[in-house]
Amino acid sequence: MKPVTKAIIPAAGMGTRFLPATKSMPKEMLPIIDKPVLQYVIEEAVASGIEDILIITGRGKRAIENHFDYAPELEVFLKEAGKGDLIDQVRGIGDQVRIFYIRQKEQRGLGDAIRIGRRHIGEEPFAVLLGDTIIDPIGDERPGLRQLIDAYEARQASVVAVHRVPREWVQRYGIVDGTPDPDYPDLYRLHQLVEKPAPEAAPSNLAIAGRYIFTPEIFACLDRTREGVGGEIQLTDAMNLLAQQQPMYALAWQARRYDIGNRVEYARCFIDYALRREDTREAVLAHLQARLGEMA
Ligand code: G1P
Repeated sequence: MKPVTKAIIPAAGMGTRFLPATKSMPKEMLPIIDKPVLQYVIEEAVASGIEDILIITGRGKRAIENHFDYAPELEVFLKEAGKGDLIDQVRGIGDQVRIFYIRQKEQRGLGDAIRIGRRHIGEEPFAVLLGDTIIDPIGDERPGLRQLIDAYEARQASVVAVHRVPREWVQRYGIVDGTPDPDYPDLYRLHQLVEKPAPEAAPSNLAIAGRYIFTPEIFACLDRTREGVGGEIQLTDAMNLLAQQQPMYALAWQARRYDIGNRVEYARCFIDYALRREDTREAVLAHLQARLGEMA
């Protein structure tokens, strides 16, 4: 069995739900305190053992490449300003992993974005991490993606992360149908996957959560996938084909998931991280308590 060392991060979406902020800035670069969302995603990948990352970008996404590159003028400035300690932070994660970029020329959907990575991935298993989704593992020390890789290694099959959502939300997600694996906690053997079903047609309330491990056969399934919901090539539809030809699993993890394309979730994420960091916790907590007091 080949280990999972490569990942694809799709980050080509237009971010229309976050206009006007995303008019000139990719949504993946929105900051949570002082770090862009995409940096959290890449840190999760690196902490999970990923060595090689392909980011699928598009027009208007140059800020992403600049962020993970060196910035010599900024480094000179920091040095001269006596702020040399910031240089390491500025160089940061871009030094710990190989990052590659390909541009998706047309917005044809998540499935199409992943298909663009085929030559880069070759005949290996690989991870997919949505570039606008932050995963905060709770009740498990392992980073979100590591939990999936462990399940992949145990079952030697594709695995997708899922979480339970209220029934009225199923239409926003890919929804999976499976039976519990008797020997692996929270793992389901999948029978069927549907992208954004109507609540009455949804086979469950287990929603795809933005992290995946695939065997390379997913690419042949993507080739056979026609336009689906929203006129886009849907990754979920290709996964449904894959599940018909080889075993495939879903891990219903406890992790907290923040979809940064959604304004309320962005606000939740920002507050949660501000309350967690030592340098911001006390002041932000005092502020929230004061506000809540005024509202009571
Ligand atoms: C995408 C996937 C969907 C998944 C969701 C998670 O949808 O197509 O299956 O549940 O991400 O965020 P999107 O949010 O791009 O509409």
